[in-house]
Amino acid sequence: MTSDTQRLGVNIDHVATVRNARGGAYPDPVQAALLAVEAGADGITAHLREDRRHIRDADIAALKRSLSVPLNFEMAATDEMVAIALATRPHAACLVPEKREERTTEGGLDIVSGRESLAPRIRSLAGAGIRVSLFVEPEPAVMEAARALGAPVVELHTGRYCEAALEDDAARTAHELARLRHAAEHGAGLGLEIHAGHGLTRDSVGPVAALPQIRELNIGHALIADAIFVGLARAVQDMRAAMDRARRP
Ligand code: PXP
Repeated sequence: MTSDTQRLGVNIDHVATVRNARGGAYPDPVQAALLAVEAGADGITAHLREDRRHIRDADIAALKRSLSVPLNFEMAATDEMVAIALATRPHAACLVPEKREERTTEGGLDIVSGRESLAPRIRSLAGAGIRVSLFVEPEPAVMEAARALGAPVVELHTGRYCEAALEDDAARTAHELARLRHAAEHGAGLGLEIHAGHGLTRDSVGPVAALPQIRELNIGHALIADAIFVGLARAVQDMRAAMDRARRP
């Protein structure tokens, strides 16, 4: 990897969503993570939510044991999650806001009014050698607040840009992309490492991937969704073959 290569972090949460739909152990998110690494992922991201709706504690421990690439542990900034991170020692921890009722992480962390409670948690993670990133809205003032908190990395929330792109709203897409560009430039100028993610698809990733300051993209849902269309035909063929083999005289 050259110094200006952009890293791809593959989020495997939704492999666990499919597993949990039936209980049991299949499909195994760790096996999916290893496949993603074989295919070129530079890191694996997993979000242990407070309600454990997809990734479970045992998945995080197994990922940490099995991976040869960095594990990015997405977590709410709570005492429980900080304790798990300190026990697991992932390469990185990405602090995200979390609401029980939301379907996915809806907005960036409020690091301005949440400063008091975030600062000690960032310090204890960083003190354990874990690289802390803050999942935030792409706003220059937020970049400055992240810098003041001492986080080395911010992950820019690309959700609004992706929504506009999905709705084919060219003006709003351009506006949201410009917000990402300004925040990336401003944050990098302050010495922050810039990451981005949320909602990116093969169609919308290009303009974000082209922003030179963005060192890493974290992508999950669209990859697991695309895997259905890339892989379903093969899965049906394999099932057909298994049935036919069983009936061969
Ligand atoms: N980055 C962060 C901080 C996230 O919370 C998520 C969603 O878990 C992602 C990236 C990946 O988003 P998506 O699954 O929509 O690609």
